[in-house]
Amino acid sequence: MAEVKMIAVVGGGQMGSGIAQVAAMNGIDVFLHDRDPQVLSKASSSISSSIHRMVSKGTISQTVGVDALKRLRLTTNLEDFHTADFIIEAIVESEDVKKSLFVRLDKIAKSSAILASNTSSISITRIASSTTRPRQVIGMHFMNPPPLMKLIEIVRGADTSDDTFAATKALSERFGKVVITSQDYPAFIVNRILMPMINEAFYTLYTGVATKEDIDTGMKLGTNHPMGPLQLADFIGLDVCLSVMRVLHTGLGDNKYAPCPLLVQYVDAGRLGRKRGIGVYEYSEEPRSTNSSSRL
Ligand SMILES: NC(=O)c1ccc[n+]([C@@H]2O[C@H](COP(=O)([O-])OP(=O)(O)OC[C@H]3O[C@@H](n4cnc5c(N)ncnc54)[C@H](O)[C@@H]3O)[C@@H](O)[C@H]2O)c1
Repeated sequence: MAEVKMIAVVGGGQMGSGIAQVAAMNGIDVFLHDRDPQVLSKASSSISSSIHRMVSKGTISQTVGVDALKRLRLTTNLEDFHTADFIIEAIVESEDVKKSLFVRLDKIAKSSAILASNTSSISITRIASSTTRPRQVIGMHFMNPPPLMKLIEIVRGADTSDDTFAATKALSERFGKVVITSQDYPAFIVNRILMPMINEAFYTLYTGVATKEDIDTGMKLGTNHPMGPLQLADFIGLDVCLSVMRVLHTGLGDNKYAPCPLLVQYVDAGRLGRKRGIGVYEYSEEPRSTNSSSRL
């Protein structure tokens, strides 16, 4: 595949906005789409303040920062994606919603374009089978937050071609990331191991073994994790954690993956973590931008 010149990202939440920022900071033109204009407005201000912070800390140069801001375009119109060489989906962790999006992307995208999913757990093979180009569909799993985390987990579906894999690996390396490769089984490598630990932390809280603070302090200081599992769940989003546990439970058929009832109840109550201001912990609300400009 020729060098990727234009990337399009679907979903302007915490992952999609971060992925768009990574692409722009690496000299690639990016379209960022969300169906909700308020989400795009919030993404615009968070990308802009993240880039300014990175410039002031010296992580990136002023020239790279200014160039990145010029390369980002926001759109509520998915049809704008027809010029993209590489499309990365980062919407809600639901197989049905992702599949209907891929059906649309397959119609809009040029025939040479690669369609990647940032899914945390869902079968790439099944997402790919909703398109007419399963050879050009792949999993490209960024870690949160994408501008800071070094890893990309690439997931090959049953029909992903060697060319698609090579282009995705080359792009990940152009982003300065380290690549690991997983076969297409539920939750791949990282979340296959991480999410049962987070779920177990919920069971530990649910069964009254300890307070949330002691569970988190125990894992931070006892195992040298940078944050406790319940804090991490809030950071990831409890809805994402629950969806991944459901994929593991259904896909592997083992009750050891049954989601903790407390996790289910928090999600039912809309306690989705930091992004909603409340999850296991409560957070003060982030300011929402009123800037609705379509270009940063
Ligand atoms: N949160 C994490 O730590 C993390 C890490 C790696 C991967 N992921 C994966 O990334 C994806 C996104 O997660 P997130 O945490 O950014 O979620 P999020 O809730 O922050 O953002 C999802 C966005 O998708 C938008 N959206 C939903 N359906 C859409 C559609 N049909 N068209 C356009 N936009 C749509 C929503 O408006 C929302 O802004 C999920 O698949 C998740 O599993 C999440």
